[in-house]
Amino acid sequence: MTVSIESQEQHWAGEGGDRWLAYHQFFEQMIDPIGQSLIEKAQLRENENCIDIGCGAGVTTIQLAQAVGKNGSVIGVDISQALIQACRARAVTRRPVGGPIFHSAESLTAGSGNGRGL
Ligand SMILES: C[S@@+](CC[C@H](N)C(=O)[O-])C[C@H]1O[C@@H](n2cnc3c(N)ncnc32)[C@H](O)[C@@H]1O
Repeated sequence: MTVSIESQEQHWAGEGGDRWLAYHQFFEQMIDPIGQSLIEKAQLRENENCIDIGCGAGVTTIQLAQAVGKNGSVIGVDISQALIQACRARAVTRRPVGGPIFHSAESLTAGSGNGRGL
């Protein structure tokens, strides 16, 4: 079975993103060990800048913001507008230290930077 990138993008930008949002607590709990393992592997330090691509409802983005502290920065990017809106609302209520910024994927273009990939 072949799955095209375009069909995945369409899925997540629409129905897939909406479904993830509707059950986000369940899904987040299910994949939490993966997120924890990636964050641990990244060995983030205070003041670092990072980007969370495919940030979903923002749970890992907020954890990353806590890891890099108020002088670091975190950008969460996702293709689902519904999820990005949920992230912004969540960041307001949870008030994470670094205050992550959330963008929809289509509003960003790749550029040079000094961050590290995870
Ligand atoms: C399995 S979910 C994981 C969400 C999040 N990382 C977490 O741990 O809760 C995958 C996420 O990737 C996003 N995604 C899929 N394709 C993408 C693309 N091309 N650009 C940006 N985000 C994308 C989806 O909208 C979805 O929120």
